[in-house]
Amino acid sequence: MIEISPLKPDHDFNGFDCGEKLINDFLKNESRNQQKWNISNIYVIYKDNKVIAYSALFSCHFRYKNEELNRKVRIPGICIGQLGVDKKYKKNGLGKYLIQHSISVANKIRKLVGCRIIYVEALENAKKYWERFNFKEIEKKGKNQFKMVFDINCNDE
Ligand SMILES: CC(C)(COP(=O)(O)OP(=O)(O)OC[C@H]1O[C@@H](n2cnc3c(N)ncnc32)[C@H](O)[C@@H]1OP(=O)(O)O)[C@@H](O)C(=O)NCCC(=O)NCCS
Repeated sequence: MIEISPLKPDHDFNGFDCGEKLINDFLKNESRNQQKWNISNIYVIYKDNKVIAYSALFSCHFRYKNEELNRKVRIPGICIGQLGVDKKYKKNGLGKYLIQHSISVANKIRKLVGCRIIYVEALENAKKYWERFNFKEIEKKGKNQFKMVFDINCNDE
């Protein structure tokens, strides 16, 4: 059974390599402080205390053109700031499991405070991956990233 846990002091991520330097570096250099300062919550899947997959979640909003109102409105939600699966464990459903976990976190939050979307800035070679989970491209970000949004209302529990 796959278990997700908040990042704990005894979790070891030194050997973690998902193939994307930015995502590896975030885990090694920033995740503990982000969690300590309540900026991101880091969720890990681990084996013998070694992190084999992780996600970083924080609250956000996205300004979105509402056709009815003909103006941009602020849509609150959560952002999957990072998602990485160690190369040795890819294609085993761990990424999918972390995305489903994020959707379930968003569904819990929205019962207490406004929360409508899950937002991600997708890397080019992961765009198709997010589309598999109903994330829709909203606009491009820079040369090779895409702002993508998942509408929580399309997935009512
Ligand atoms: C992208 C990533 C998170 C996928 O994790 P994973 O655990 O290997 O993926 P899963 O096992 O959950 O895959 C679920 C399905 O998506 C498919 N898939 C995996 N990577 C894919 C990709 N890059 N593009 C399209 N489909 C992909 C799988 O084949 C699987 O298909 P199936 O259900 O038909 O078998 C992982 O490859 C990774 O860490 N990549 C580097 C970091 C990165 O790009 N993160 C995203 C940042 S925006």
